[in-house]
Amino acid sequence: MKCCYSAVVLVWPGSAPSTLTGKDEVSRHRTLQDGVWVTFKGGVYDITEFVAMHPGGDKIMLAAGGAVEPFWALYAVHNQDHVLEILSEYKVSVYLNISFDYARSLNPSDPFSSDPERHPVLRINNLKPFNAEPPPEILSESYITPNVFFFKRNHLPVPRIDPESYKLTVEIQGPNRERGGALSLSLDDLKNKFPKHTVTATIQCAGNRRSDMHKAKQVKGLNWGIGAIGNGTWSGAKLRDVLLAAGYSPDDANWARHVQFEGLDQDVAGTTYGASIPLRKAISEDGDCLLAYEMNGEELPLDHGFPIRVIVPGTVGARNVKWLGKIIVSDVESSSHWQQNDYKGFSPSTDWDTVDYKTAPAIQELPIQSAITVPADGAIVDRSDEEVTLKGYAWSGGGREVVRVDVSIDGGKTWKIAQLKSSDKEQTAGAMAPPPGQAWAWKLWELTVPLPADTEEMEVVCKAVDSSYNMQPDSILPIWNLRGVLSNAWHRVKVKIQEEQDDQ
Ligand code: MTE
Repeated sequence: MKCCYSAVVLVWPGSAPSTLTGKDEVSRHRTLQDGVWVTFKGGVYDITEFVAMHPGGDKIMLAAGGAVEPFWALYAVHNQDHVLEILSEYKVSVYLNISFDYARSLNPSDPFSSDPERHPVLRINNLKPFNAEPPPEILSESYITPNVFFFKRNHLPVPRIDPESYKLTVEIQGPNRERGGALSLSLDDLKNKFPKHTVTATIQCAGNRRSDMHKAKQVKGLNWGIGAIGNGTWSGAKLRDVLLAAGYSPDDANWARHVQFEGLDQDVAGTTYGASIPLRKAISEDGDCLLAYEMNGEELPLDHGFPIRVIVPGTVGARNVKWLGKIIVSDVESSSHWQQNDYKGFSPSTDWDTVDYKTAPAIQELPIQSAITVPADGAIVDRSDEEVTLKGYAWSGGGREVVRVDVSIDGGKTWKIAQLKSSDKEQTAGAMAPPPGQAWAWKLWELTVPLPADTEEMEVVCKAVDSSYNMQPDSILPIWNLRGVLSNAWHRVKVKIQEEQDDQ
């Protein structure tokens, strides 16, 4: 098994190589007080003095304590020789990535010791298991969310799976069928025996924007901001093709109702993550469900389910099972806690004494959602700028296309229609829209508005409309639920307008 863990050794010019854990050392330098360090292609750079000179303003602080490469991929302006020259002035050491058998780094008393490295820009909601989201402004910087910045939602330690010995089991388990005869597929089989399909799809956690719900009234769950969502390009075998290869036949639709997925991640008692989706979604040509081995053109990262995860476009993140070990066609849903209890919606009046999980269906398709990524809540803009550009994302579940995003800067009294983007390129008239019912990817939206003359504070609000004319509710309390899922009320941020005399 070739699994490597990278460690870092810092070498200061003129000194012997230090055996300090360099990555930790770099990640401690994230503020002007502590110094601002970044890494780039094997070098460590102390850019503290450069921060004030950065033409892009304090966005540079997003890279503090970590690698700049993912940001330079987002902001192509950096791909110029003079940028490298400027950076080279700030080099303080060499950053060595030493590979060794990751098994040696394992700490038997810590099941999370095999978790992969993550970029320090991610905002951590929980360290073990790892749950983190990117700063909102990164989300609207590119239509496809880069892998390093994609939110990570893990319930259990990240399993290390040997791609050489990996096997996916597919079972068709009807009431009148033998349990035996399961199909077993290697990673090579999945890559070579089935046509490769690519789908661009947004994944959103049911708990995205839970913090808004929590502010209105306390809920239980990780305090996600607006970043538990990302848009990726996924490639792999079609789930439908694999089910047919396992012997699924149209007659099975007489008894089969669900397709269950089991992950290879497990807790100390050996319980694995599991979820299921309706059979109709899994088997339909138009459902576009994938057994993905690539994310954004790269091998699926460890955090996102290496070597195989299921992608269920238009469906809540929880059903997109990572580190997939087993698929079962069944007459019943997955019996897992995450299907039966978690990830269900309840009435605002249901509390922890009255909740009865059996009364609510498991969340599958998600409702219409949108949020403002720029400016941030509490941001200050200068009156002298005269205008402000507002940005965000909008998405709806079930393949329903976002057809409009309304934006207000007066708390929802009046509205303007934002410009929608379905790629990073200029949209050309007549560009191909996804077929109706297969709009799996989000739209980014943008609107530039003049600063209002008569106020020092703007309340920016956004709300989206999908192709079924579903709209977001205006307030949170009527949709409040004890687990804080499905939080999709109008998103609001307050922005202060700084008058010119304030500067003096
Ligand atoms: N699959 C496994 N095996 N284990 C998990 O903890 N988390 C689920 C889903 N699939 C999870 C899983 C949840 S709740 C979400 S929102 C998505 O993965 C998150 O996917 P991501 O971490 O790739 O963003």
